[in-house]
Parts: sequence; C-alpha cells; structure tokens
Amino acid sequence: MNHAISVAPLDVVVLAAGKGTRMRSAHPKVLQPLGGEPMLAHVLRAVVALTPQQVHLVVGHGQAEVREWAASQGDMTGPVTWVEQTEQLGTGHAVRLSAKAWTPGSVVLVAYGDVPLITPATLASAAEAARSQVVIITAKVAEPSGYGRIVRDASGQVSAIVEHADATPAQQAIKEINTGVIAAPADWLGPWLDALQNDNPKGEYYLTDVIAMAVVEGRPVTGLCAADAAELEGVNDRVQLAKAERQLQSRRATALMRAGVTLADPARLDVRGGVQAGQDVSIDVGCILEGRVVLGNKVRIGPYCHLRDVELGDGAVIESHSVLEGVVTAAHVHVGPFARLRPGTRLATGAKVGNFVETKKAIVGAGSKINHLSYVGDAELGADVNVGAGTITCNYDGANKHLTRIGDRAFIGSNSALVAPVEIGADATIGAGSVIAKPAPAGQLTVSRSKQISLPGWQRPTPRKA
Ligand code: UD1
Ligand code: CA
Repeated sequence: MNHAISVAPLDVVVLAAGKGTRMRSAHPKVLQPLGGEPMLAHVLRAVVALTPQQVHLVVGHGQAEVREWAASQGDMTGPVTWVEQTEQLGTGHAVRLSAKAWTPGSVVLVAYGDVPLITPATLASAAEAARSQVVIITAKVAEPSGYGRIVRDASGQVSAIVEHADATPAQQAIKEINTGVIAAPADWLGPWLDALQNDNPKGEYYLTDVIAMAVVEGRPVTGLCAADAAELEGVNDRVQLAKAERQLQSRRATALMRAGVTLADPARLDVRGGVQAGQDVSIDVGCILEGRVVLGNKVRIGPYCHLRDVELGDGAVIESHSVLEGVVTAAHVHVGPFARLRPGTRLATGAKVGNFVETKKAIVGAGSKINHLSYVGDAELGADVNVGAGTITCNYDGANKHLTRIGDRAFIGSNSALVAPVEIGADATIGAGSVIAKPAPAGQLTVSRSKQISLPGWQRPTPRKA
C-alpha cells in the first residue's frame, strides 16, 4: 500500500535504541516477534509506505543484533540511515542525534519501535498536518498507566505532555495519552531538542518536553485523537506483547474473511506471514500459517494444521493435525490426518498422503497414494503408484542420501524397505515385507522375503515338573 504524502520532504525518525528492561530478555525489545516478525519490521513497513526522504533508525542497545536482522532482510527496510545512540539518555536525546542528517526544510515525523501496530494512514495524517504546526497523535485509553498524559488548557488546546512518573494525581487521572507519534517542521524541532533538560525523576531527555516549549513560543500544537486506540498501544513487556499479537491476528483474520475465506473461529487462527487465498477456502480452528502460504480455490484445511511456505492447488484437502513445510501441490490432493510433509515435497493432481506418513524431497505423481505409516524421502514416484503401509525408503547410508525411483502404477507391498539408490519399474509389484536393494523390473513381481515354512508334528514345549 502506498501512502505517499504531499508534504515532501519528509524525514522519519524511528526510535529503537532502548533496552526494553521490562521484557526481561537477552534480545533488544524491537526484535521481539509479533506476527512472526520483529516488532521493528512492522514499524519500518508502515513508515516506508509514506515514501519518506529518509528513515533515521536510532539504535543502541543490542544494535549488532538489530543490524544483523536488517542485513538479512535485503532492501525490505527501505532508505534507512543508521543513527547510533550509545547511551540511552531518553527519547529526546535519541531524536536529537538524528538531527544533523535531516533533510533541510523537511517535516520530521517520529515513530517508536515499540508501537508496532501503527498504520501508514495514521502516520500520514500526522505528517500531512505538520507543515506549519506541531502534531501529536493521542489516544483515549481505559488504562493510561505508564503513558505520557496529554494536558489540555481551558480552551482544549494541548499545553504539555506529562510523563507518568512526573504526573500529579490529577494528571494521572487523564485518560488521553501520548502515543509517541510526533510530527513537526525540522526548523522548529531542532532548536527545541537542543534546549531539552533532564531534570526529571528518570534523568532523561524527554522528547515530549518539546510540546511545552512549542506552547511557550506560540507555535500551534494539535493533538489528533486516534479513532482506534488499539493500533497505538505501546509494547513494553510480554503481557502487552501478547495483547498486540492478538490485535494483529484479529486484523489478519478479518482481512482473510473480507477476502472470502471462511474461518471456523477468527480468534483461533495464527498467521505469521502472508496468506493469499482463492475463493471458498475454509480453515478450521487452531491452524498456524507461516511464511508465504498460497491457497487455491476451495482449499479446505482441517483443525490444528501447521503450514509453512506452502502452495496448495484448487480443492486440496488437508486433514487435521498435519504439518507441511516447503510443499507445493497441484489440485485435489488429500493430505492427513497426522501427515508430515517436509521441504521439497511435490504432490501432483489427486495424490494422497495419509496418516503417519512422512515425506521429504519427494515428488509424488498424479493419483499416487501413500496412505499409511510410511517414510518417503529423496524419491520420485510416477502416476497411480500405490505405496503400502509401513513402506520405508532407506535413503541414507550413514554418509550420503540416495534416490528411489518408482515407475507408474507400481504397487509396493506393505512393510517393504526400498534401499536407495534403487529403481522400481512401471507396473512392478513388490511383495509385502521385501527388502529391495536391486532394481525391480517393470511388470514383474519381485519378492525378497524369506520363504514361509511349517513344521508338521512340531510340539510346543511344556513346563518342567518340579
Ligand atoms: C514513551 C513516551 C510516552 C508515551 C509512550 C507511548 C517519552 C519521554 N515518553 O514512554 O509519553 O506515552 O512512549 O508508548 O517519549 N528509546 C530510544 N532511546 C532512548 C530511550 C528510548 O531509542 O534513549 C526508544 C525505545 O527503544 C522505544 C521508544 O524510544 O522504542 C520509547 O521508549 P520507552 O522507554 O519505551 O518510553 P515509554 O516509557 O514507553
Ligand atoms: Ca514504550
């Protein structure tokens, strides 16, 4: 989505240097995962949608880890200018460090790395309005504890932001809070940041103190109260992280339903990536969809399935408790219940993989069936092959992996071990319980089990008398 705005040039500052003490984590707060990605990824995506001149990313605590993550993302993070804050002296100090790199005459928009659900539309509304005034995005919340409070004068104009720790009991009762989004002309903001003091209980340079400075100088300050407070909740601890996760999941579930997907219960689906779905797809409760998931028309996913990087053709049915990763299928395949399809599994039209079957790097031809209790790895199966229960491809010799090839319409008897590299010809039949280590010719029955014998007159031993 492009929310390119008309107040060019725009400089965005994203604050991500804090330790996140309240997370009690070894990792920097902005890398805590939300919907399968670091919180910071969400914020960066939202700000990049405004097509700013520059994004100044202020990092400090755990910055090596943040930079490593960013490097792994390629150019997803957009035009990022890194700003190093070695000591976390406060949000005002953090923004000030970016000031020398601002584009002359720009509007500066500040977003916090720990307010991850913010939308481009909300950010744009602040930036658009900030050409000749200071704009803060506020929200009315039931539980304002921990947030900076918005103090308004008798005429309703914003006069200051007072941090929770510094607020009087009367100010603590204020339900309108600072969300962290501030936008102002760079030419004003720079000198205010230079003038910040840290004479407060935390000994920090508060960005929020610039509001009172603006008021003293007679600069207009507008507090835009957001319609959806949930979008602007800060995440300081894992309780708030879990709350934000639910909020994000509810957004994603709603988007899927609006796009025509039936969800048995939108509160019992977790999407940790991107889902693209055709018409009349249905997803039962307890499913987790990760990475890139593409679902064709009429795909049906049963309860408690876990799909990661999966592409399913039209009419595919995945029964309950199946785990699929790195799988591509054609139309009308049937998988599970209790199937595990690992990376490199490719199912052609109408193929069936049943309960307690594991596949890996397995190409399964059209109409072929592996219905029960099998391991099929490093294998290529033709069309209409029937793999009996308990069949194992012995693909690993302790040092290397080898390929098993099975021709069209072959029938593999139950409990066979196919010792790779090995080839089973088209229309071949393998007798149950065989160990097949040499090629099995097309059209013939190949059996390698020991012959069955019966001993006439054999007596069962009886207990010795005392
Ligand atoms: C801040 C605001 C508060 C607001 C709340 C919204 C200030 C002084 N307070 O409080 O008014 O209601 O967010 O969620 O701005 N950071 C740095 N460098 C620093 C300090 C912080 O980069 O030196 C970053 C943090 O990593 C975080 C963000 O700035 O991403 C906010 O800092 P945090 O300490 O969480 O501020 P709050 O106490 O939540
Ligand atoms: Ca915070």
